[in-house]
Amino acid sequence: MSSNLSKNTTKKILVTGGAGYIGSHTCVELLNDGHEIIVLDNLSNSSEESLKRVQEITGKTLEFVKGDIRDHKLLNSLFSNHEIASVIHFAGLKAVGESVSMPLAYYDNNVNGTLVLLEAMKQANVKTLVFSSSATVYGDPASLPISEDFPTSATNPYGRSKLMIEEILQDLHVSDNSWRIALLRYFNPVGAHPSGRIGEDPNDIPNNLMPYIAQVAIGKLDKLSVFGNDYPTHDGTGVRDYIHVVDLSLGHVRAIEKLQKTAGIHAWNLGVGKGYSVLEMVAAFEQASQQPVPYQFAPRRSGDIAACYANPEKALNELGWKAEKGVDDMVSDSWRWQSVNPNGYHS
Ligand code: NAD
Ligand code: UFG
Repeated sequence: MSSNLSKNTTKKILVTGGAGYIGSHTCVELLNDGHEIIVLDNLSNSSEESLKRVQEITGKTLEFVKGDIRDHKLLNSLFSNHEIASVIHFAGLKAVGESVSMPLAYYDNNVNGTLVLLEAMKQANVKTLVFSSSATVYGDPASLPISEDFPTSATNPYGRSKLMIEEILQDLHVSDNSWRIALLRYFNPVGAHPSGRIGEDPNDIPNNLMPYIAQVAIGKLDKLSVFGNDYPTHDGTGVRDYIHVVDLSLGHVRAIEKLQKTAGIHAWNLGVGKGYSVLEMVAAFEQASQQPVPYQFAPRRSGDIAACYANPEKALNELGWKAEKGVDDMVSDSWRWQSVNPNGYHS
């Protein structure tokens, strides 16, 4: 691993936020697929250890640059010192609740950070971008499953930052149709690499269901609060489309390949197309871990919707991509990561 910015002539993919949860798994799949990558990450929500393990899993090397996507000078030097062909852009802040209390930090990191990145790309004539969007851009959908042509809306600063970036990218493409842009709308990424070496490592008490369940199962947290048991779903608890992070990562590899062949801006849902309730996920985790996951019902969490799952047909038809892993893989891989690394990368 090196942070050497000397001139290098092999065509590379710049992966912003590549040390994070989804980024690190995507680095594995990109390296396995023969790509050369440079990771740019400020490590605000990750550690360099994830990248060491990515290299250990793949037996290949990557370049790491510690830095911020809002640093104009650094970005310009990255693009002028390397032959970068495309960018996969994960870097950003992602906690919905935190975005409500710190909106300026979210707009600065996510929206301003993306603007700085796009300006540097434009200057360097690098016009291929895969952007991490979210199913949150569909707001509370009128029907299910959700297709890419559904109306978009946002209910919190995090969601609004994703929507703003999608709109900025649409405008950019109108101004210059040689851009090649993928808006990947993730549903609920969960699980970990089957090696147990990389996974989700929340800094604090987890906000999301799966890491919370995993920490209850290992005994770090007492019990899960199930937010709402009176939703109009089959058991009253919230329903989501959980997707294994390895499947999600492979979706990025397919998107990069597609953009190499086709110009334009495209939105693709990355989801399985099936919904599971909170209680179903708890039961699946207990089964895989053979550990009890005690829970209590609690009031609904503000801003949550009853149910959300994808129509993933467009990604199948246009990218040839489909999620292959089921809930059993998601919970058993998540448990392996949690039990082998009880304190994440600090274990
Ligand atoms: P993560 O926090 O694990 O990864 C984000 C990475 O970006 C971290 O390594 C962090 O250090 C880095 N980063 C943040 N701000 C930066 C900046 N200004 N400059 C450089 N690096 C910076 O999150 P993740 O779960 O891997 O999510 C990746 C992307 O996918 C994010 O954009 C997120 O909004 C989006 N997304 C995530 C989910 C999810 O549930 N995990 C769902 C939909 C969309
Ligand atoms: N839940 C609980 N208890 C918890 C945590 C979650 O009952 O402690 C429930 C939620 O109410 C919801 C389900 O578990 O019904 C999933 O919640 P998550 O927080 O794991 O995921 P969300 O669907 O709320 O949010 C995720 C991402 C967001 C993204 C959104 C839409 O975290 O970034 O999907 O794509 F915006």
